[in-house]
Order: sequence, then C-alpha cells, then structure tokens
Amino acid sequence: MRSGRNGEKMGKNGSEGQETLSIRDNRTGKNYEVDIHSGDIIRAMDLRQIKVNDDDFGMMAYDPGFTNTASTKSSVTFIDGGKGILRYRGYPIDQLAEHSTHLEVAYLLLKGELPAQSELDDFVHEVTFHTYVHENITELFSGFRYDAHAMGMVMSGVAALSSFYPEAKDIENSAARSQQIIRLIAKMPTLSAYAYRHHRGLPYVYPDNELDYTANFRNMLFRIGSREYEPNPVLERALDILFILHADHEQNCSATAMRVIGSANSDPYSAMAGAMGALYGPLHGGANEAVLRMLTRIGSVDNIPAFMEGVKKREERLMGFGHRVYKAYDPRAAIIKRTADEVFDVTGRNPLLDIALELERIALNEDFFVERNLYPNVDFYSGLIYQAMGFPVEMFPVLFAIPRTVGWLAQWQEMLEDPELRIARPRQVFTGSDERNFVPIGDRG
Ligand code: CMC
Repeated sequence: MRSGRNGEKMGKNGSEGQETLSIRDNRTGKNYEVDIHSGDIIRAMDLRQIKVNDDDFGMMAYDPGFTNTASTKSSVTFIDGGKGILRYRGYPIDQLAEHSTHLEVAYLLLKGELPAQSELDDFVHEVTFHTYVHENITELFSGFRYDAHAMGMVMSGVAALSSFYPEAKDIENSAARSQQIIRLIAKMPTLSAYAYRHHRGLPYVYPDNELDYTANFRNMLFRIGSREYEPNPVLERALDILFILHADHEQNCSATAMRVIGSANSDPYSAMAGAMGALYGPLHGGANEAVLRMLTRIGSVDNIPAFMEGVKKREERLMGFGHRVYKAYDPRAAIIKRTADEVFDVTGRNPLLDIALELERIALNEDFFVERNLYPNVDFYSGLIYQAMGFPVEMFPVLFAIPRTVGWLAQWQEMLEDPELRIARPRQVFTGSDERNFVPIGDRG
C-alpha cells in the first residue's frame, strides 16, 4: 500500500472491484481490466494475464530497489513522506517522543495499543528479568579481536542466541514467539554493552535489574569498579527519546530483510541477525557513523565549500541527507536537533555541531539539494549526541539496532499472522546467455 494513504484496506481477491484500470496491449490489440484496490494499488499478479500468446509467461512489474512496490500490508507504522509525518500505530512521533518511554512504545508497536499501567509494569518487568545472557555468549565476545567492529560483534551475538533457544524455531507457537521477542529486546543492550567493553578491554558489567532500560544500558557501558552508578536523568531521557525515534520505520531495508528471512520460517534470532546486516550498511543505519566520520574529515567550516563541490560533482555523498520516502524534513531529525541542545547543556557543545549546522544551511538553500529534496535524515544529528554522551563511533549503528529490534519484531510478528504470507521470492529479468553446450577445458579457445 502506498505511503501517503492512511487506514485504507485492500479488498480481498479484488472484491471491491468497482474501479478498474484499463490496459490496452498494442502488441495484440487486446484490452484488459485490472482491479484498482483502495490505496491506488493493483495486484502485480493481475498483470500476468497480459500475454502475447498462451505459452507466454505473462507481464511482470520490474522495480529495482522496490521504489514503487508494496511488499506487504501493515498496520504498524505510517509515513507520509511528502508531509514529513511519522506515526506508530496512529500516534504522532513527536507526541510519543515527548510523553512516552521506549518500552511503552515497544509495547505499543508490538501489541497495537498503548498499555494500561499494570500491562506496562508487567512488560517492563519481563524485559528487565531477561537481560542476562548465557556465560558462553560472554566467552564468544572474548574471542573477537580487540578492534572488531561493535556491530559485527552484536550481530554475531544475536545469531548465536538462536543456538541457545532452539524452541525459537517453533514460530507457529505464539507463546514461544512472545518469549523470544522479550528476550531479544532485553538482551540487545547487554550484547551491545559487552561489545563496547570488549573493544575497550574492560571487564563486562552484568545487568542491574534495579535500573531502567537506558540507565541499565549506560551502567553496563560506563561503570568502572564498584562505584555506585549515578544516572544522569537528562542523558538517560535523551537516549530514551533517541530509542523511541528509531523504534520502527515501516518497510525499510532492514525490516524488509527481517521479513524476507522470516518468510522462510527461520527463527527470529537468525532473521534479526540478517536485519542487522542490512542496517549496518552506510546507506541505512551505518549512516550515523558515516556522518561523524564525514564531519571529522571536513574538520572546519572553512573546508565546507570544497566538500560541497565534491558532493555536487558526485565524488561523494552528503551522509545523513536524503531519504527514499521523506521528500520533506525527516520529523525524527527535527526532534533530535532539539534533544541535542538539552544534551549539550550537560556534556558541553560538540565542536562538530557548527560544521553540521553550516552543511544543513547550505544544503537547504542550494539548487542541487533542493531539486532532489535532500533534507537531513535521522542520522545527521544523532551521532553528534552519541559522541557527546561518550560513545565511540563504532557503537553508533548498534545504538540504532537496539531500539529497531522492536520494529523488526513487530514487523516479523505481523508477517507471521498475515493470511497472505508466502515465502519471499522475487522474479528476475534474465539477461544471460541462451542455452549452449559445455566445452571441455582443453577445447576452450
Ligand atoms: N548526497 C548527495 N546526493 C544525494 C544524496 C546524498 N546524501 N542522497 C541522494 N542523492 C541524490 C542522488 O545522487 C540522486 O541524484 P540524481 O537523480 O541526479 O542521480 C538523487 O539524489 C536521488 O537519490 P537516490 O540515491 O536515487 O535515492 P534513494 O531513494 O535510492 O536513496 C538514500 C536514499 C537514503 C540511500 C540516499 O539518499 C543516501 O544515500 N543518503 C545518504 C546516506 C544516509 O544518510 N542514509 C540514512 C537514511 S535515513 C536512516 C535509515 O532509515 O536508514
């Protein structure tokens, strides 16, 4: 279903059927009527009837990068990219960022409704008491090189969890599914903190069930010795807001990876490791790390004009700008920019902020960027906050993956309950050689 249309449902088997699209095939002179379903969509399979002759395979849609193909129906997250709107289960992202917490948003995304207090308490309790990982997982982390990228370590940890919970294969069992969902949300901060501690050569800090989700995460990351950890409410809240903003984003690259792998009935740990692999890429969740490296490389406001000339000559990309769906300001970027000010009041201003602000000012005024609707996306300012909070750049994609775990699992769960679910298996347009006979190696010219 197209973004930009909210709450519309597709009629089953074209039962709405009132509106049709007339297609005339000039090769045969035949006319076809294809049902238009609400949301201005047609079913790709309806094109298959368009044939030159009976032996013909039939017409297919060709859509590299799925730029105009709805792969699923979903009621989780709504985006209107033209208007800069993002809603989780109908609730605007700015309201959730202002009034909610990450675990309340997790409940909302997974179950469809905001929880009553007792439901939220139970959910938070469940997550809090599944934060520990098996000691053998801890040993797995010790096996990585000291300079291993945090995302590679966490991704491997998630994949390894599938071997600790073989019951996760029982994807038809909704109780088993819920159990794995709680485990993954609970253990992601633990695995992520272990990756950080390993990188730093520091001993692992076990989860503290007295602390809330973000405070516990920061404690596992930054605690040194037996000193009582003192949560900083501004930084904890800022991290929670960032988690809310990253929790889901409908059918993006990694959510699609999650669904594609999950459609083969794989367990959620294996599917999520694949989704993490997609997120790791610099065009997706790895962009926050790439932005920080880019800002560091630019180094000073004086170097910006030369850098921007390079972007316009297509020698490089302005990382943290542009989006497949948003053709207006990414609403998450606007909230992050506000949050940054609160964080910098505590940590001190990140010196790279001036470079970022100047890049944004130029990009919003120069034709190259305006004509292509290139606005800052969620990754443009998030790294500046993470850096000010003391995270090394290698942790940035991990800080995206922790909250996105919720979205991946909400999408996975929705997919498994979809009566139209079939294994993902796209078609191709074959461009290779026609049949030819094998030539023995000695006879090849
Ligand atoms: N810098 C310079 N030019 C750009 C950029 C950019 N960041 N993004 C897009 N363009 C240009 C691109 O060259 C193309 O120009 P033309 O039509 O003249 O060939 C046009 O804008 C359309 O770009 P596209 O690559 O066809 O757009 P897409 O929808 O396939 O890609 C994107 C979307 C996010 C991959 C891309 O904008 C990009 O690479 N951005 C930088 C990486 C980034 O910040 N990624 C984070 C995305 S938000 C977090 C998430 O959810 O993943």
